[in-house]
Amino acid sequence: MNLLITGGAGFIGGNFTHYMVNKYPDYNIIVLDKLTYAGNLETLEPVMNNIKFIKSDIADRDAVYRLFEEEKPDIVVNFAAESHVDRSIDDPEIFLITNMLGTQVLMDACRKYGIKRYHQVSTDEVYGDLPLDRPDLFFTEETPIHTSSPYSASKASADLLVQAYHRTYNLPVTISRCSNNYGPYHFPEKLIPLMIANALNDKPLPVYGKGENVRDWLYVEDHCKAIDLIIHKGREGEVYNIGGHNEKTNIYIVKKILELLNKPESLITYVTDRKGHDLRYAIDPTKIHNELGWEPETKFDDGIVKTVEWYLANKSWWEKIISGEYMEYYKKMYINRGSI
Ligand code: NAD
Ligand code: TYD
Repeated sequence: MNLLITGGAGFIGGNFTHYMVNKYPDYNIIVLDKLTYAGNLETLEPVMNNIKFIKSDIADRDAVYRLFEEEKPDIVVNFAAESHVDRSIDDPEIFLITNMLGTQVLMDACRKYGIKRYHQVSTDEVYGDLPLDRPDLFFTEETPIHTSSPYSASKASADLLVQAYHRTYNLPVTISRCSNNYGPYHFPEKLIPLMIANALNDKPLPVYGKGENVRDWLYVEDHCKAIDLIIHKGREGEVYNIGGHNEKTNIYIVKKILELLNKPESLITYVTDRKGHDLRYAIDPTKIHNELGWEPETKFDDGIVKTVEWYLANKSWWEKIISGEYMEYYKKMYINRGSI
């Protein structure tokens, strides 16, 4: 089986590459990644001898066609994306190029060269948000698309295109929409790794608004297991929501991280809220549970301990990132919010 993983040098794609290398030693695994600011070859270091890595852009049609011609992938799992909401608010264009047009190029290659399965890794953010005072409401696969940020709009556009390629060209596709992931190799611009890194460096922890927004946290390995099931056993043309009942407010998470690291709550700094900030995400995973037997195995209170331990044991991985160019971005993002 030839498996092409795009965006495999990023957070979830990297974890998925590790997972698949270990689970399917006889698979021929090819990782394509542009190595943007978010891509890090060190994430792939432990499996580099078991994969073929190609530095390329999913939106570069010639390069992608060449790769398909040479590698003949049977399964394509597309993680490659611009993934940070705050960056999309600052500058949306690259989000449309990579997330939408890149997806189109990959699917055109799939049509041209033939594949068994194209899997699109999407997000629960395509459903918009839920109110804070209605804990009975959850996103199902039937929830209408209703996006808030340029990031979520670009991901939703890609999803619609994937469904159109299935209906129009019979492309054998599946889509998964997951909630917020956390775990090893998470780039320290996202909530959990940013707060861990700042706490360890005794820097302020910038909480947007009042910290009351709710996310439904999914340990990254549980996500990898779900995608493995979908690409091998999921029904063509279907959408599967992945997540499940690990809802936490941002402030709960920040306080939990401080507690685990034995750092004072005085590091918490409330800063200007994100524009269009989604209030609550919460997934109903009934479909993937009933059809494929998947359920999240890691409870948040266990997963956060494992995650904090990973960041303590792998300081060199993230300390290299929090330097140079990244710091310039960091200053630009937070200077106007009043936290540095
Ligand atoms: P990430 O930002 O950590 O990694 C993205 C990877 O894609 C990086 O390695 C980057 O170099 C690569 N990339 C970017 N543009 C590319 C291009 N044009 N061509 C090839 N490679 C390119 O993202 P992540 O958190 O691992 O997310 C992976 C996927 O999962 C994304 O599609 C994202 O929308 C989706 N998702 C993420 C979360 C989450 O909580 N992190 C939740 C829901 C959905
Ligand atoms: P993030 O990790 O960016 O994921 P997403 O926006 O895709 O859910 O943010 C998670 C939540 O944490 C979100 O409600 C915004 C909030 N947040 C902060 O309060 N401070 C921060 O510095 C960051 C990056 C996020």
